[in-house]
Amino acid sequence: MKISIFGLGYVGTVTAACLAREGHEVIGIDINREKIDTINAGKCPIVEEKIGEIIAEVVGRRQLEASFDSKSAINHTDVSMICVGTPSQDNGDTDLSFVLRLSEKIGQVLKNKSSFHTLIYRSTVPPGTTEEQVIPRLEESSGKKVYVDFDVCFNPEFLREGSSVSDFYNPPFTIVGQQSRAAQQLLGRIYSFLHAPLHVTNIKTAEMLKYVCNSYHALKICFANEIGSLARKLGIDGFELMRLFMLDDKQNLSGMYLKPGFAYGGSCLPKDVRALNYLAKRLDYPAPLLNAVPLSNNEHLEQGYKLITSFNARKIGFLGLSFKGGTDDLRESPLVLLAERLIGKGYELLIYDINVNVARIFGANKAYIEAEIPHIEKLFVNSIDDVIFNSEVIVIGNYDKQYADAVRKIKDREIVDLSRIIEDPSSLRDNYHGICW
Ligand SMILES: NC(=O)c1ccc[n+]([C@@H]2O[C@H](COP(=O)([O-])OP(=O)(O)OC[C@H]3O[C@@H](n4cnc5c(N)ncnc54)[C@H](O)[C@@H]3O)[C@@H](O)[C@H]2O)c1
Repeated sequence: MKISIFGLGYVGTVTAACLAREGHEVIGIDINREKIDTINAGKCPIVEEKIGEIIAEVVGRRQLEASFDSKSAINHTDVSMICVGTPSQDNGDTDLSFVLRLSEKIGQVLKNKSSFHTLIYRSTVPPGTTEEQVIPRLEESSGKKVYVDFDVCFNPEFLREGSSVSDFYNPPFTIVGQQSRAAQQLLGRIYSFLHAPLHVTNIKTAEMLKYVCNSYHALKICFANEIGSLARKLGIDGFELMRLFMLDDKQNLSGMYLKPGFAYGGSCLPKDVRALNYLAKRLDYPAPLLNAVPLSNNEHLEQGYKLITSFNARKIGFLGLSFKGGTDDLRESPLVLLAERLIGKGYELLIYDINVNVARIFGANKAYIEAEIPHIEKLFVNSIDDVIFNSEVIVIGNYDKQYADAVRKIKDREIVDLSRIIEDPSSLRDNYHGICW
C-alpha cells in the first residue's frame, strides 16, 4: 500500500520505517529539513534501538523516502497517517496547533484530489478532538464530506521510547476508532504482519483510551514508588515485597477492581488503607497517592449523593445495602453512608437487601449498623416490589440478578444504578442513570 506519514518524531519515524520494512511504499513528511535529510541519507533522526538498521535498509530499497512536499505525498498515496506532536501548554491543556494546522493543509490538497483518501490520526489528542475539531477543518478546507469523499479514523500508538521497534511489532492490540467500517479493513491490511487482535470502537473512546493507558501506567509507577519508600523506612525490601505482590494475578495484576462502579467499602479496604496512611504519617512520609485514595472514594460517594438527590424526589428506595452483592456485611458499606446522609437530610428511605435480614445480623456487623442508622429495621421492607411501588427514585446498591430483572420492568420511576447491574444500559429507557458510565 502507498502510505504518507506526517511527523517524523518517535512515532512517525518508527511507524514509517517498520511499515516500509513490511513492504508498504512509504513517504515520510516533516517540516524539519534536518530530519528529512537524515532519513534520505539512510540514517536515523532519533536515538532508538534497531531503528537505524531498519531505516538504512528501507531507504536503500527505496521503500521509504522523506520529503517536505505534503501535496505530492497525499496525491501519490492512498492513506496518510498523522503523527505530529501534541505537546502540553503551560496550563496542562494539549497544544493541538500542529494537528489542526496540518489538517487544514491536508484538506486543501484533498480538495483537488480525485481519488478516495483515508486519514489515520495517531497523535494523542483529548477525546472529541477528531470529530469536533479535526473533521470540521478537513471538510471546510476540502469542501468535501467525510465518510463520503474521504475517510477518517483514529489509531492510537502504544509504543514506548527505548523499546519502540519491539513494541511496534508486539502491541497488546490494535485499536481503531472509526465511524465507517472501511477503516477497520484498511488497518487490518496495513498491519497484516502483526499478531495482535484488532479492536474496533468509536473515535472518542479510542482517543480517550490512550490517556487512560498512560495515566494508569503513571499511577502504577507512583504506587510502586510510594510502597517502596514506605517499605524502605520499615526496613523491608520493596523489591521483594512487590515481587510477591505481582505473583497474585487474580486480584492484583488482573482486571479485577477496574470496572467503573461505586465507592469501595466493607470491613477491610477502608480500614487497611487508613492504617497504611497512618503508618506513613508516623514515618514522616507524605505518601500523597495513598492519602488521596480515601479522598477519591469520598468524592465518588458525593457524586452518588448528588445524582440521587438531583430528581427533586423525597422517597428513595434502596435495592442492596451491603458493600457488595452476596454478603450481609454492612460495615463501612458506602451505601450505609449514603443512606445515613439521605436520612439526615430528611429523605424518606425504604430498603431491601436480599442478603440482609436485620433481625439476624450479629456482632460487629450489628454494632456498626446500629451506630450508623439507629432503628434501621423500620426502613427495611420485605420485597423488591415494596421498594419499587413506594419510592420515586430506586437506587441499586449492589448486584443481584433479581434486582436486574426488576429494574428492566420499571417504567415510571427514576433508577440510579451505582453498581452497573445492567450489562447493556442502552437497552433501557432514559429513566435509567449510571453513576460512572
Ligand atoms: N513518543 C512516544 O513514545 C509516543 C508514544 C505514543 C504516542 N505518542 C504521541 O504521538 C504523537 C507524536 O509524538 P512524538 O514523540 O513522535 O512527537 P515529536 O514531537 O517527537 O515529533 C513530532 C514531529 O512532527 C513534526 N511536525 C510538526 N508539524 C508538522 C507538519 N505540519 N507536517 C509534518 N510534520 C510536522 C515535527 O517537526 C516533529 O518532527 C504525540 O501526539 C504523542 O503524544 C508518542
